[in-house]
Amino acid sequence: MYTQALNTSDTDDRNIEDAARAGQFQARVDADERIEPNDWMPAAYRKTLTRQISQHAHSEIVGMLPEGNWITRAPTLRRKAALLAKVQDECGHGLYLYAAAETLGTSREELVDLMLAGKAKYSSIFNYPTLTWADIGAIGWLVDGAAIMNQIPLCRCSYGPYARAMIRVCKEESFHQRQGFEIMLTLSRGSEEQKAMAQSALDRWWWPVLMMFGPPDKASQHSDTSTKWKIKRFSNDELRQKFVDATVSQAQFLGLTIPDPGMKQDEAGHWVYSAIDWNEFNQVLAGNGPCNRDRLAARRKAHDEGAWVREAAQTFAEKRKQRLAAQAA
Ligand SMILES: [Fe+2]
Ligand SMILES: [Fe+2]
Repeated sequence: MYTQALNTSDTDDRNIEDAARAGQFQARVDADERIEPNDWMPAAYRKTLTRQISQHAHSEIVGMLPEGNWITRAPTLRRKAALLAKVQDECGHGLYLYAAAETLGTSREELVDLMLAGKAKYSSIFNYPTLTWADIGAIGWLVDGAAIMNQIPLCRCSYGPYARAMIRVCKEESFHQRQGFEIMLTLSRGSEEQKAMAQSALDRWWWPVLMMFGPPDKASQHSDTSTKWKIKRFSNDELRQKFVDATVSQAQFLGLTIPDPGMKQDEAGHWVYSAIDWNEFNQVLAGNGPCNRDRLAARRKAHDEGAWVREAAQTFAEKRKQRLAAQAA
């Protein structure tokens, strides 16, 4: 009985202490202060950010696959060099983001293993195939364009390491978006066949790109607390609308048609789009998109084939540690 009573009062003390810290934490967030790795934070904040940042990292890494598919087949040396640089940037984004996620206390190995086991998500968009060169244009223009819409507000995210990583990432994304738009512009000013190829890429990528912003606000599970903690500054639907409004005039400039005949502008000037097929989105998230199995298989193969690099790096680090210890002695 005595032990029981003691435990209860310990728990009570801890609850009171946590409530006080949670209040201070929220006050710091409300004052737009950055939360840093060693600061106290609610367990749910840590968990939400670990999930979001690691999913973002996985998306950058898996996102290299559909475009990497075209590096050897890019039509000119200039296009090849630009695409190579772009895919390499995405790898760098993945690495900054894993480093940011690790500051929350979960190791990169654990995060990567969850992805390879199919237990962690990455962006649904990378489960679609890149059938023609125009798809590389459409990805840069639309997918990187959508990523910019999502990521610019994250530069002001309450968690310092994530916000800082996003500043550099966004600068690079803007280069990616322009290289994609330039490919689309060249194709749409080219032969009838090239224009048709650009239109077909837009037709295939448009709806999956709108789905990239996530479920509609009324069905989104994570938005309320993420907004309160200033991880998220705009809702999925708000970001989707901003993207659509920005992209319609770009499509018009290219002379391409957005595959949504029912689309019209409302009185406030916003483009109202037709209903999104959320069933398709849910199917892709459930692992049944056109390329889910290929993407995971490619990542697992690369991970297995890279085992010797990880072992060599580990051995090198251990030897270096021993050498430094011997020098210090
Ligand atoms: Fe990226
Ligand atoms: Fe990008």
